[in-house]
Amino acid sequence: MRVLVVVPTYNERASLPGTLRRLRTAVPEADALVVDDASPDGTGDLADALAADDEQVHVLHRAAKEGLGAAYVAGFGWGLERGYDVLVEMDADGSHQPEQLPRMLAALADGADLVLGSRWVPGGAVHNWPRHRLLLSRGGNVYTRLVTGIGLHDATGGFRVFRREVLQGLDLADVASQGYCFQVDLAWRAVRAGYDVREVPIDFVERAVGTSKMSRDIVLEALWRVTLWGVTHRVSQVTGSLRRRRSRREEAAWRA
Ligand code: GDD
Ligand code: MN
Repeated sequence: MRVLVVVPTYNERASLPGTLRRLRTAVPEADALVVDDASPDGTGDLADALAADDEQVHVLHRAAKEGLGAAYVAGFGWGLERGYDVLVEMDADGSHQPEQLPRMLAALADGADLVLGSRWVPGGAVHNWPRHRLLLSRGGNVYTRLVTGIGLHDATGGFRVFRREVLQGLDLADVASQGYCFQVDLAWRAVRAGYDVREVPIDFVERAVGTSKMSRDIVLEALWRVTLWGVTHRVSQVTGSLRRRRSRREEAAWRA
């Protein structure tokens, strides 16, 4: 199985080399694709230098910062075109530990179609997050569960393993989510499509250097999109059941 780890970067100069080094040690056979949105700090040039020294490292340069979702869609497209069997999402800043990737890959080998690294299942944890980030993540997941009915504990996390067929089946061109709600978008699409989605506990460790790109706009986008998806889904459930009831009634009348 050919594995590609897609690593989106925006101003991650200080973190990227260590993350790629740890990945190589933890999963030597995996290739990496850095998807850089023209980082002002020169992460893209640094990634090129790392790739020149290592044929398992690749770089996809994008012209401007367009959000995590767009970066992943481009990275997945790159990997699917090149025939990778397994595509991984992983942050560049060290919050997702490459040492925990083998356990996630094992769940895929065990039959899962999509494996979510989960902070909010037994055995999972978050280290060094301030209170407001803990609240945002827990609150975001509770809200997502309530509104969509999705049975996942961590639908917003960004450490994941996809079987290529899942990404091929999800119509990525149709994904409009730009920010971190991209994660909810993909998880929910996979669940609705009937794929075997499993959560594996991970330790999320807050970055030691650099800064988070989480912003008020990213939170607001997640809030309105998740709400819209939930409402649309509920409405279609109701109209679907009304339609079924009417056709049952018509059938009964026809028989009588
Ligand atoms: N190419 C690109 N473009 N990369 C981006 C962009 C972008 O617009 N925005 C963020 N990234 C990259 C960062 O450089 C980093 O490698 C990764 O995406 C995660 O960004 P962070 O800014 O470090 O996210 P976080 O630690 O605040 O948020 C974490 O938790 C979120 C909520 O659970 C991440 O794990 C997210 O994936 C997760 O959704
Ligand atoms: Mn981070």
